[in-house]
Amino acid sequence: MNVEQQSATMPAIQVENLSKTFGKGESAVTVLKDINMQVAGGEVVGLLGPSGSGKTTLLQCLGAVIDPDVGRITFGGETLFNDGWKQQDRRALRRDHIGFIFQRPYLIPFMDATENVAFLPMLQGKSNKQAYQRAHDLLELLDVAHRADAHIEQLSGGEQQRVAIARALANNPPVILADEPTAPLDSQRALTVMKLLHEMAQKSSAAIIVVTHDENIIPLFKRLYRLRDGILHEELQQAD
Ligand SMILES: Nc1ncnc2c1ncn2[C@@H]1O[C@H](COP(=O)(O)OP(=O)(O)OP(=O)(O)O)[C@@H](O)[C@H]1O
Ligand SMILES: [Mg+2]
Repeated sequence: MNVEQQSATMPAIQVENLSKTFGKGESAVTVLKDINMQVAGGEVVGLLGPSGSGKTTLLQCLGAVIDPDVGRITFGGETLFNDGWKQQDRRALRRDHIGFIFQRPYLIPFMDATENVAFLPMLQGKSNKQAYQRAHDLLELLDVAHRADAHIEQLSGGEQQRVAIARALANNPPVILADEPTAPLDSQRALTVMKLLHEMAQKSSAAIIVVTHDENIIPLFKRLYRLRDGILHEELQQAD
C-alpha cells in the first residue's frame, strides 16, 4: 500500500515518544521531551507555545528537515523515522509528501512568483502547462495573481508569504506543516489563508499542523497542541 491508500485508515501523522536535544554535555538543551501527537487526514490542528518552546523544531523534525534523536514518526501508517530515518532520500520524502510553510518565505529570487510555485509540480513530472495552471489557480486563491509575473524582491512581505503558501500547496501534499503562516498578513488575509488550508484539508484529506500566535485564528482550531517546557499538551476547544 502506498501512503495515500493507507491514510484512509491510519492517522495521517503519528508521532510517538519523539525527543530532540541540541548540544552536548553541560550545554545540552532538551527542546522536545517524549512528544506524542496524532493528526487525522482532513484535520487542521494548531500548535502553540511561547517563543523558544520548540514549535519550529517539532515541525522541522516532522518535515525531515532536522533529525530527531529518538522516537517514531509515521505518515498514513508508513514508518518514516524509528530512531533513524527509514528512507535515505529525504529530498524525495519532502517533495512528495510534505508541504512546508516556513516562518519566513524562502523564495527563489531569480524566479518570478509563478515560477516559484510551478517548479515543484514540474519536478514531480507535471507538464509545464499543468504546473503553470496549478500555480495560477493557487495564486488566484491567495489573492496574489496580479503579482504573478513579479520578481520576488518586488513583492511585499505579505505577498511573498502568500506565494510561499501557494508553493507549499502546489503538489497537493498529504501533510502540510505551516510555521506561523499568517504572521506577515493582515487579519483579513490571515483568515483567507486559514480558510484555504481548511479547504485543502477537506478536499485532499491533507493533515495540517499550523504553528501560530495569532489570537484571531486560534478559535478556528477544534484541537490544539501546546508546547510548554518541552512537553506537548493537547487541548480541545469549541471551534466556529
Ligand atoms: N540548531 C540549533 N542549535 C541549538 N539550539 C537550537 C537550534 N535550533 C533551535 N535551537 C533552540 O531550541 C529552542 C527552540 O527553538 P524553536 O525555534 O523550535 O522555538 P519556537 O517555539 O519555534 O520559537 P519562536 O516562537 O520564537 O519561533 C530555542 O531555545 C532555540 O534557541
Ligand atoms: Mg519558531
